[in-house]
Amino acid sequence: MTDNQQTPAKDPIRIFDTTLRDGEQSPGASMTLEEKLQIADILDSMGVDIIEAGFPIASNGDFEAVSEISKQSKNSVIAGLARAIHADIDRCGEAVKHAEQGRIHTFVSTSPIHLKFQMNKTEEQVLDIITDTVARARNLIDDVEWSAMDATRTPLDYLCRCVEAAIKCGATTINLPDTVGYTTPDEYRQMFADVIARVPNSDKAIFSVHCHDDLGLAVANSLAGVAGGARQVECTINGLGERAGNAALEEIVMAIRTRSDALPYDCKVDPKFLTRASKLVAGASGFTVQYNKAIVGKNAFAHESGIHQDGMLKNAETYEIMRPEDVGVKATSLVMGKHSGRHAFKDKLKELGFELGDNALQDAFRRFKDLADRKKHVYDEDIEALVENEIATASESTKVLSLTVIAGTGGPQKAILTMDVNGTHHTREATGDGPVDATFNAIKAIVPHDATLQLYQVHAVTEGTDAQAEVSVRLEANGRIATGKGADTDTLVASARAYVSAMNKLAVRQSADNPGALKAS
Ligand code: KIV
Ligand code: ZN
Repeated sequence: MTDNQQTPAKDPIRIFDTTLRDGEQSPGASMTLEEKLQIADILDSMGVDIIEAGFPIASNGDFEAVSEISKQSKNSVIAGLARAIHADIDRCGEAVKHAEQGRIHTFVSTSPIHLKFQMNKTEEQVLDIITDTVARARNLIDDVEWSAMDATRTPLDYLCRCVEAAIKCGATTINLPDTVGYTTPDEYRQMFADVIARVPNSDKAIFSVHCHDDLGLAVANSLAGVAGGARQVECTINGLGERAGNAALEEIVMAIRTRSDALPYDCKVDPKFLTRASKLVAGASGFTVQYNKAIVGKNAFAHESGIHQDGMLKNAETYEIMRPEDVGVKATSLVMGKHSGRHAFKDKLKELGFELGDNALQDAFRRFKDLADRKKHVYDEDIEALVENEIATASESTKVLSLTVIAGTGGPQKAILTMDVNGTHHTREATGDGPVDATFNAIKAIVPHDATLQLYQVHAVTEGTDAQAEVSVRLEANGRIATGKGADTDTLVASARAYVSAMNKLAVRQSADNPGALKAS
């Protein structure tokens, strides 16, 4: 190429993140408003084009989250989901109206199996629904996305008629989801190529992929859909989502960046935010990331075998196709000890991407000092776990104050727990089948409730026997599920904090129907 020849412009790919909608729909992944706002903030800062912030008609909580995210976001388009029902569309329009750029995303099923068993409607009736609902959405807002749910199991002729009708009524984005994770890359690519070629007004809309990972093909299918002409990819951080999850945003972004020779597209997302976004979503959802997960897994850049290590020392490119720092992985650094001052701590937080208000900073610093007293080396990961915990629990009305546990072979194990419930201190003793059970029974003695434990998971934040334990607890009550996390060098204290955090989240959800559902006894 000569000097005055320019590199051909690459086609832009819009990244549509649905962590807060499809991701949050996975059982147990529900998040608080504060967590959703934090996640939306990082998505907005990292260059995600569209954030699907929730399903406004689903609950007041979802409505509030979509409205607040609409107010807060500076760069991204904010979308809300709506079924093909007037009330859904109107509620969604209300929620996104505060956004600088809002979008109504409405959908209806198009496959024969959904039409027959789920909707009991004919093809012609569904076409009428599309015409009516897309037009209604378009009357409220200029940016309307329409999705053909179960598109990959819809006969092509009918799918084309639906798409044409949606575009005619004003849809500006057409999403053809692989709702059940059934398609293959070739099939999906061909479907887009065919629909785009056959629908006469296809040039008036952007086409979008949306893939579920039931066969482990979500990312491959998404990229194949792009090869077939789609220019928007719907995905989630960590691949969070219904059943086996959605296509993982970090994998899509890094595939496009790393293999620009084979995937000649432009995507605005700054990959340096990926690690932080992954940790934030894992923390809020309670869905920890598997160690060998591409891009954001703990082992994604670890080289254990002798041959690999030897190669890496000679030249990192021998075994590394991406650099860890490109995706925001920092070399683990020994941060500070108990003599470190507030200023150094504040600087460290800034470096790690946290900006805390004065009160939160004060509390985090106090906990850091406490941690440094108990733990020889305090690493970045320790600070991250500590601050994330502090942020998650700052607004909670019920807190663990102190815990003493008598454990060992003798049994029964006993826990003596003091908690602050709405500003009043309560202490109770309880026994149990092991120290964790005794601790949870003590919590139940202070705050009686009938939530059941669905998940209890512990992992170490760093190496060593003095490492902080990070515990996830998932509780279920009256069909609602909430996950809490707690971190401490003492696994039982971390367990109590995680349990109480999950309980607080459940209480927030229950308070709408039953104010004061969780009260101290
Ligand atoms: O998987 C799916 O079909 C969806 C639609 C609502 C877009 O999530
Ligand atoms: Zn989906």
